[in-house]
Amino acid sequence: MFSHDIVVVGGGLAGLRAAIEAHDCGFDVAVVSKVHPLRSHSVMAQGGINASLANHPEGKEDNWEKHAFDTIKGSDFLADQDAVETFAKEALVNLYELEHWGCPFSRFPNGKIAQRPFGGAGFPRTCFGADKTGLYLINTLYEQTIKRNIKIYEEWVVLELIVEDQTCRGIVAYSLPEGELEAFKAKAVIFCTGGNLRIYPKSSNSITSTASGVVMAFRAGLPLKDMEFVQFHPTTLYGLNLTLTEGARGEGAYLLNDLGERFMSRYVSEAIMEKAPRDITSRAIQTEINEGRGVGGKDYIYLDMRHFGANTIKKRFPGIYEACMEFRGINPVKEPIPIQPAAHWSMGGIDCDYNTDTEVNGFFVAGECACVSIHGANRLGGNSLMETIVFGRRAGRRTSEYIANGRPKSAGNGIYREALLKQEMRFQGIFERTGTESPYKIKSELGTIMDTRVGIFREEQDLRQALNEIRELQKRYEDVRPPYKGRRYNYDLLWHLDIEGFLTISEVIVMGALNRQESRGSHARLDYKERDDKNWLKHTVARLIDGEVILSYKPVTITKFGIGKREY
Ligand code: FUM
Repeated sequence: MFSHDIVVVGGGLAGLRAAIEAHDCGFDVAVVSKVHPLRSHSVMAQGGINASLANHPEGKEDNWEKHAFDTIKGSDFLADQDAVETFAKEALVNLYELEHWGCPFSRFPNGKIAQRPFGGAGFPRTCFGADKTGLYLINTLYEQTIKRNIKIYEEWVVLELIVEDQTCRGIVAYSLPEGELEAFKAKAVIFCTGGNLRIYPKSSNSITSTASGVVMAFRAGLPLKDMEFVQFHPTTLYGLNLTLTEGARGEGAYLLNDLGERFMSRYVSEAIMEKAPRDITSRAIQTEINEGRGVGGKDYIYLDMRHFGANTIKKRFPGIYEACMEFRGINPVKEPIPIQPAAHWSMGGIDCDYNTDTEVNGFFVAGECACVSIHGANRLGGNSLMETIVFGRRAGRRTSEYIANGRPKSAGNGIYREALLKQEMRFQGIFERTGTESPYKIKSELGTIMDTRVGIFREEQDLRQALNEIRELQKRYEDVRPPYKGRRYNYDLLWHLDIEGFLTISEVIVMGALNRQESRGSHARLDYKERDDKNWLKHTVARLIDGEVILSYKPVTITKFGIGKREY
């Protein structure tokens, strides 16, 4: 058994930031990650990280309150406003800390950190490193992690959260290289396990975004919040669904339909056009496609950057240039880029407050797996990277306070032996299955259901059918064939476990979407087209009780920003 004061699960930005903070508070902290941190999904984040630095010539009047207001309006007023205030205020100091740690942000000629416009922001507020901001940030945090000699368990897959009497005691994990199971004893655990959206076949998420952390927490009795809100990124490379950063539209790239029209004026004001928030832009693109104005009548439209010129494209958007050239043989200097919306980010997650506290003592969450909630029904681009930093740091600090305050009393070793045995038995049970169903076929069918019935536009009949079909797949999963039986690097086994989790999370998403009879942010119901504050200004809370998903609701926290119309 391994033992640490604090175990952080997940080696992405939130995880590393949490670990650094916990270490600096004087605790023995370890990071457990299924991939090397430099291969975590955070690396894929491109366009930037929001903080109201007011460095941009057109953003001199920006401040944290304007950042907070834009975030709340962007959330379609479902965000908890106390959490957003904390976030927007702390973004500033956190951003400067990253600068002081050497993050190579792009700069204005006067040497200040450059900022670019992003959708739904009143001012150019998004700081960036070309279009590789996530890569630069993770390298910066990784340097700080190794400088502190923080222990990283790489290629360890966490299987269970150990909870006893509403208190978290540690985890059980599987070492991919060794094939062994091991218990980790900890006074506190922080989950920074990332997103879920590999459930969708068209997804910008890495293959590792499998919902495993969210599922583990759900099975351990924790509530999930607002899971029906799924963000579709408007511009992903057609066919591959790699994100092509919103920064391109922020800096003036066009969206063009089959007729060569810049169609966004049909959906938002002429002043906003391609700089609309993601939910609105994705709906606009999907509408163009649905109404037959996709390019050549197909399911994509164009992102056109040609007017930027070769120099700007290669310098400011090298990631877009490389992705288009390498994967599609398209030169964005000379050709428009075929794009389509794809599942990108989950607004929902494990329910927590802005201190990263959950219902279980000693268990904290941050990053995409958490629902704080600062994004409500729709996240603004550039807020997720900052969320990982602000709330990763808060989680590290909060966990340290929790331990310093004398909690919890140490657990005996029996609980770890038991948890380990339970997972061993689980593996054995899986290896001894006699079924014949292919989990990959189930996953593929689930993907079709989510894509066709639980996408950008939703309606009751589709959602009901999706729910029935998912429950059918859950039954079929009981007859799934055994995986490959080797112990080392057994990805077949891991996919078996993850696909079971996908089915659970999909059920939660669909149930939340079916119940919510309104349109708000990313949740667009064709049968309930308006936002309905009277009945639906509330968070969805899902719990697993005796194997059944049960929904309830809780109020949104409103502070000084109130509730208003959302127009752009
Ligand atoms: O478009 C982008 O660069 C993505 C940013 C984000 O998801 O915040």
